[in-house]
Amino acid sequence: MPAATIPIPAVPLQRFLPQASPLVLGCMGLGGGWDARPLSESDVDKAQAATEAALAAGITLFDHANIYTLGKAEESFGRLFQRQPSLRQSLLLQSKCGIRFADAQGPKRYDLSAQHIVESVDAILGRLETDYLDVLILHRPDPLMQPAEVAQAWQQIKAAGKARFLGVSNMHAAQMGWLQQALDEPLVVNQLEMSLLKRDWLEAATGFNDPQGASYLAWDGTLEYAQQHGLQLQAWGALARGWFSGAAPVDAPPAVRRAAEYVQQLAQVHGVAAEAVVLAWLMRHPARIQPVVGTTDPQRIRACAQATQVALSRGEWYQLYEAARGRELP
Ligand SMILES: NC(=O)c1ccc[n+]([C@@H]2O[C@H](COP(=O)([O-])OP(=O)(O)OC[C@H]3O[C@@H](n4cnc5c(N)ncnc54)[C@H](OP(=O)(O)O)[C@@H]3O)[C@@H](O)[C@H]2O)c1
Repeated sequence: MPAATIPIPAVPLQRFLPQASPLVLGCMGLGGGWDARPLSESDVDKAQAATEAALAAGITLFDHANIYTLGKAEESFGRLFQRQPSLRQSLLLQSKCGIRFADAQGPKRYDLSAQHIVESVDAILGRLETDYLDVLILHRPDPLMQPAEVAQAWQQIKAAGKARFLGVSNMHAAQMGWLQQALDEPLVVNQLEMSLLKRDWLEAATGFNDPQGASYLAWDGTLEYAQQHGLQLQAWGALARGWFSGAAPVDAPPAVRRAAEYVQQLAQVHGVAAEAVVLAWLMRHPARIQPVVGTTDPQRIRACAQATQVALSRGEWYQLYEAARGRELP
């Protein structure tokens, strides 16, 4: 009997959520501003246009956090689900907790206490007007975190059916491993800032014998940990605010300008938009990184989705990497 073939998922997260798309729509730009102004109908219209454009382009996973526009990004999705109750079943939702702004109890801080996690999830579900999250993400490592306490909170949330899977953000390999040993199920996601502009995750692996590479060592092993454990890496800030796809500031460093020119060349060669090349560079990594794109513009969302059509050659990948870092590899 031939051995059963195990299909290789397009992205690791599909092991847990088979409907997860290679790209994620970041929702930080929804909900109006980071102010006390209440959510308006036009904010909900904007959320609807972005969501419909994403779904039509094959993007099924939507990234929130309880702090985005002070809760209004999540609220805009809640209002969207009121408009279209069947929509919730057509998409996957992740949201984050663990960052607190200054209040009577203290300054801006991180809080991965069991109480804060449990209470945050209830508030998130209330704003999103949904019964469950597909992925709950711990937004930032809290120096006061106690893994056993996080595990206890997670068990409570999971048992109540309020979230299906647990992930983290902005944690390096040792932090993930330390938390993982307290959990009885795998962490499924780590969301890090990764782009042509923010390359420390990569420099940690290539910067040996390079005096300028030493500061990246905190990230050493993070990519390897994720790949070894089948954990999904998600890249926030993946578009680098458009710096490599037509929106570089006039005083951008020469390396950014040179890399942006090369992005344009590659876009022509591959017959796609510049945004697609910027994202394809991240997706070419064998960790099968999922870019979280922060655009809310339907046209740019469609441009980003073209990234799934691009397979950069090794030569192209390294040439773009070298252009963005502004110097040859050691
Ligand atoms: N885990 C974390 O700690 C963390 C932190 C920050 C963000 N995030 C998540 O990651 C998502 C993306 O991050 P991000 O928003 O910081 O970064 P991003 O995706 O790199 O940048 C998005 C911004 O860049 C603009 N932009 C992109 N391409 C452009 C172009 N060619 N010309 C002009 N403007 C362009 C977009 O404007 P338009 O809308 O006009 O296209 C948008 O304002 C967020 O939505 C959020 O979900 C996570």
